[in-house]
Amino acid sequence: MSTSKMAGKAAKSKYDPQFTDQVIAATGPKAHPRLAQIMPSLLRHLHDFAREVDLTVAEWAAGVDLINEAGLMSDSKRNETGLLCDILGLESLVDEITSKLLLSAGAESTATPSAVLGPFYRENAPVLPNGSSIVLAARDSAWYREAEPLLAHISGRVVSASSGKPIANAVVDVWLAGPNGMYEQQDTSQPDMNLRGRFRTDADGKYVLYALRPTAYPIPLDGPAGRVLQLLDRHPYRPAHVHFIVGAEGFRALTTQVFDREDPYVKDDSVFATKDELLVDFKKRDGDDRAHWSLVYDFALCET
Ligand code: BEZ
Ligand code: FE
Repeated sequence: MSTSKMAGKAAKSKYDPQFTDQVIAATGPKAHPRLAQIMPSLLRHLHDFAREVDLTVAEWAAGVDLINEAGLMSDSKRNETGLLCDILGLESLVDEITSKLLLSAGAESTATPSAVLGPFYRENAPVLPNGSSIVLAARDSAWYREAEPLLAHISGRVVSASSGKPIANAVVDVWLAGPNGMYEQQDTSQPDMNLRGRFRTDADGKYVLYALRPTAYPIPLDGPAGRVLQLLDRHPYRPAHVHFIVGAEGFRALTTQVFDREDPYVKDDSVFATKDELLVDFKKRDGDDRAHWSLVYDFALCET
């Protein structure tokens, strides 16, 4: 038996050996079926954890306070409890589990992998014609001057993961943070819906837009998630990325992100969301006064 398993057994025997079974047995016959299925496992892991680390009342109370504080900070613009889950890898893990459960058989190798939604998505981004720019900030603003060297042409196709055929009329919903590391709803220097847009693919499955080459940014540090990062001696940075939700009739909507391969944080994402297939290369773009960089990326969707 491994040392940690032995430690767990020894810790268990110090405490009432019937306690966890008693708590599990309190579930009644009319319990919600999914909860009745999963709660015994949750209770065993939770209780074993407390026994294994000899969790004290003061430590448990500090954890309760932290979760309460995160809840009180959360509203329609901020999801601090979600952020706590993110830094613990939980959103990335459930995203992997969900996509494995939903992927049609055989599509694992061809479908574009998903990645976490994150807390900064906004519904109802402007619907724009292909070829438009989502950089809405005024050209004479300080924000635009910082952003200008990063102007990027982003294009690609949306295809079926099973047949490889293009999907016309797919909706590509895209959003990203500015060069100051902030999304527009966090930042009064950006206009409403800056760096957000929805585009429809043409008959060849193609989408085209102008945006920015993304910049790495720290997740918000002024709440419990930031405190936990500091206590764990961890950095808060997310590698430079662009978010997408790609949907089409008859296909499963894909929530994902693409990551700039040149960003050092791709190997050390504070929310553990990077995947090799989602690393992309921004290339220098010549002869286009609207962009200095270009990215070509195709999305492969699974049928429903
Ligand atoms: C984001 O990419 O926007 C994000 C994801 C998880 C936590 C914080 C930010
Ligand atoms: Fe993001």
